[in-house]
Amino acid sequence: MSKRFKESNLEGHSGLHFNTAATAEPDVPPALKESNKLSATSMGENSIPSFKAADLVVRPSSRPKAKQPTFSFGTAFTDHMLSIEWTLSEGWQTPLIRPLGSLSLHPACSALHYGIQLFEGLKAYRGDDNRVRIFRPMLNMSRMARSARRACLPAFDQSELLECIRRLVELDQDWVPHTASHSLYIRPTFISTESSLGIKKPTCALLYVIMCQAGSYFNDEAEPVSLWADPKYTRAWKGGTGDCKMGGNYGGALLAQHEAMDYGCQQVLWLHGGDHQITEAGSMNIFLHWINEDGEEELATPPLDGIILPGITRQSILELTSKWGGFKATERYLTMGQLCTALKQQRVKEMFGSGTACMICPIGRVFYQGEKLY
Ligand SMILES: Cc1ncc(COP(=O)(O)O)c(C=O)c1O
Repeated sequence: MSKRFKESNLEGHSGLHFNTAATAEPDVPPALKESNKLSATSMGENSIPSFKAADLVVRPSSRPKAKQPTFSFGTAFTDHMLSIEWTLSEGWQTPLIRPLGSLSLHPACSALHYGIQLFEGLKAYRGDDNRVRIFRPMLNMSRMARSARRACLPAFDQSELLECIRRLVELDQDWVPHTASHSLYIRPTFISTESSLGIKKPTCALLYVIMCQAGSYFNDEAEPVSLWADPKYTRAWKGGTGDCKMGGNYGGALLAQHEAMDYGCQQVLWLHGGDHQITEAGSMNIFLHWINEDGEEELATPPLDGIILPGITRQSILELTSKWGGFKATERYLTMGQLCTALKQQRVKEMFGSGTACMICPIGRVFYQGEKLY
């Protein structure tokens, strides 16, 4: 990790603080070792050629927008964006913060044709002390680096990118809402800009970061969501890209989402395999708080076996609850059969989805094989 990042991280000398408390976990549950291994690997890669935050050029907007309290998700963008170009021949270019604006892409751009791209999602919150904190951002940087490997996009120094993002948030910090339930959503995006119809490893790419205000992801925060569980559609499969944040995973899920709505449900409960394993809910990880088959109180979530996105909220919930005691926090397979039996035997205490956008989202009912399960 670069010295500069460590300093700004720990001392917050510029007034913007990262929430690192939750990342300093001395006793990590064994099941979380995989994600730690990823961070460690990524740290090892930090010696790779990369852009440097110290070179950042800032061109502030001469016409900052009026800040309307628009909390409809993903619509009210801040004044600035970060962009960093890369080419195979020249490597990473100077990072630039500039007024938010359109991109100019060649119509053959391989991100558009073949989905050679990825994104991340993290949030900055304003605390009661008026400080702005970004929630566990290094975990997003690690996940982004892993998605980049999977998409054949170039590696970058995660700490340098985080420092550039910190500078962007600092510049647009007036956009961070003052209300506890609202936040600033940060969307790093990484696309191939290859202007060729050949399907090949990109020789040029663009990493950019935009930010928008975020309120409640769903329309009504208090209302539990309903899920449509049908094996007809699959979100992810072994050896696929479901454990990376790549756009195709989401575009490919849209039709199922609409079919869920036809069945009067808000989200899809993604199933996998002949035994209808429960994997994720919409674009959230899923948790079942129940009395398991052995009579134990358990908070269970499916393991990271390649078809689950390793959510940062998921990781945080596992880390916190495994320290609480009183019930087991477990990564284990869960099937619809087990859920149906547990519901009949009144062993289900709660089900919820987790993710940066919604945080914790209670699940009210599941529509499965023609039946409404509560
Ligand atoms: C498919 C999927 N699962 C789970 C999550 C939750 O991940 P996180 O907690 O890092 O937001 C997301 C959100 O990005 C997602 O897209």
